[in-house]
Amino acid sequence: MKISVIGTGYVGLVTGVCLSEVGHEITCLDIDSRKVERLNRSESPIYEPGLEDMMKKNIDAGRLDFTDSYETAMRGRDIVIIAVGTPQADDGSAELVYLNNACRSIAETMTNDMIVVTKSTVPVGTNEHVKNEIEKHHNGSYSVEVISNPEFLREGSAIHDTFNGDRIVVGGESEQAVEKVKSIFEPFGVPIIMTDLRSAEMIKYASNAFLATKISFINQLSNLCERIGANVESVAKGMGMDKRIGDKFLNAGVGYGGSCFPKDTSALSAIAQSVDYDLTIVDSVIATNEGQQRIIVDKIKKVFPDLENKRIAVLGLAFKPNTDDMRDAPSIKVVRELVDAGAEVYAYDPIASENARTYLPGATNYMDSVEEAIDGKDFAVIMTDWKEIKEYSPESYAKSLTNPVVFDGRNCYGLKEIENTGLEYHSIGRPTVYNK
Ligand code: UDX
Repeated sequence: MKISVIGTGYVGLVTGVCLSEVGHEITCLDIDSRKVERLNRSESPIYEPGLEDMMKKNIDAGRLDFTDSYETAMRGRDIVIIAVGTPQADDGSAELVYLNNACRSIAETMTNDMIVVTKSTVPVGTNEHVKNEIEKHHNGSYSVEVISNPEFLREGSAIHDTFNGDRIVVGGESEQAVEKVKSIFEPFGVPIIMTDLRSAEMIKYASNAFLATKISFINQLSNLCERIGANVESVAKGMGMDKRIGDKFLNAGVGYGGSCFPKDTSALSAIAQSVDYDLTIVDSVIATNEGQQRIIVDKIKKVFPDLENKRIAVLGLAFKPNTDDMRDAPSIKVVRELVDAGAEVYAYDPIASENARTYLPGATNYMDSVEEAIDGKDFAVIMTDWKEIKEYSPESYAKSLTNPVVFDGRNCYGLKEIENTGLEYHSIGRPTVYNK
């Protein structure tokens, strides 16, 4: 099938490349022509394992190309997938300006009847708005059907998730359009649920808000565990063995970040407010996460009340491992607070340092390895559970740091591993190990 994808951000690019991989003819459009040039050379603007190889293979096979022209992208297409960004507006709601621009351009350049699929995460009711927007700007020669197809892929494992997802959601009012869109995703071999437009839009917000709730729940419990002398890891393990609860997304830490959970929970709360309903559970999930993102600073200040001129190693900056994404990363709040308190920060991240420069204050120094970051520093703080950081030996901290103290915001080490290493080890929701 001939399909175009509008927007080459995370979702659009991965979707376009994976659809070409299963044999569809895909044109991806982005209005940024320099980005399009790079994409046509198989250069990915995002870090995603395996993506560039898959891009190259399908570009070479003639099934995938990139353009900045709507005329080219829309010519003779049956289906267009909108995957433009829906950033958070000042009031917490989703900003729809890019979506509206895409609707207008589609309306002005379509050459036949179209099915317009929205993948961007959008407030309930937006797909009806998409249909109205396109019809408003179109001369009426062709018909438009809209389909909601929310995306669930995770950064860093996006290709794997596309081919191994738990479900694909296709929501719409026209049975024919729903069936046609279902057929383009069938080669992924993932269960497909068909529903109405508004329910499809809601599934995405509800799923992300529920996952965020699991994280905030276990984070609050971790704070309680610390106060009553329990170990949150054992608690999560015991809870997770109950299949009704499930063992995923119960890792306590410094809170969730990234481009989805913070934005989608705020947007869902804004949707509820717009119909005069208080979604109190989601509101507390958001508030809990804001507190949890800086919990490690409280732990640090208890041990080192005066941070003036302290030299601190910060290990990991990205909001999670295997990505260079810094959006809403907990490290941003933590590094800012440390610098504001007069400390010097020496940060290391395997790939996010370049992006981090735009988010972190000027006083941050970027190091090339864990060794370099911790060498001769007062103490260390772990913010992201990169494999490389988890595998770093606890003894080496004890040797390199001036004070052998580590604050681990991601529970990278088992408490047994720390015993007899000479390290003072503060983690989340678990007893502190002193090794005195
Ligand atoms: C998430 C959803 O998983 C995905 O389905 C949706 O499409 C987009 O949002 P992503 O943001 O890429 O994906 O990452 P994810 O792996 O879900 O992690 C999100 C955040 O939660 C990270 O900051 C991570 O560190 C944190 N997290 C996750 C925890 O703190 N504890 C956990 O147990 C799991």
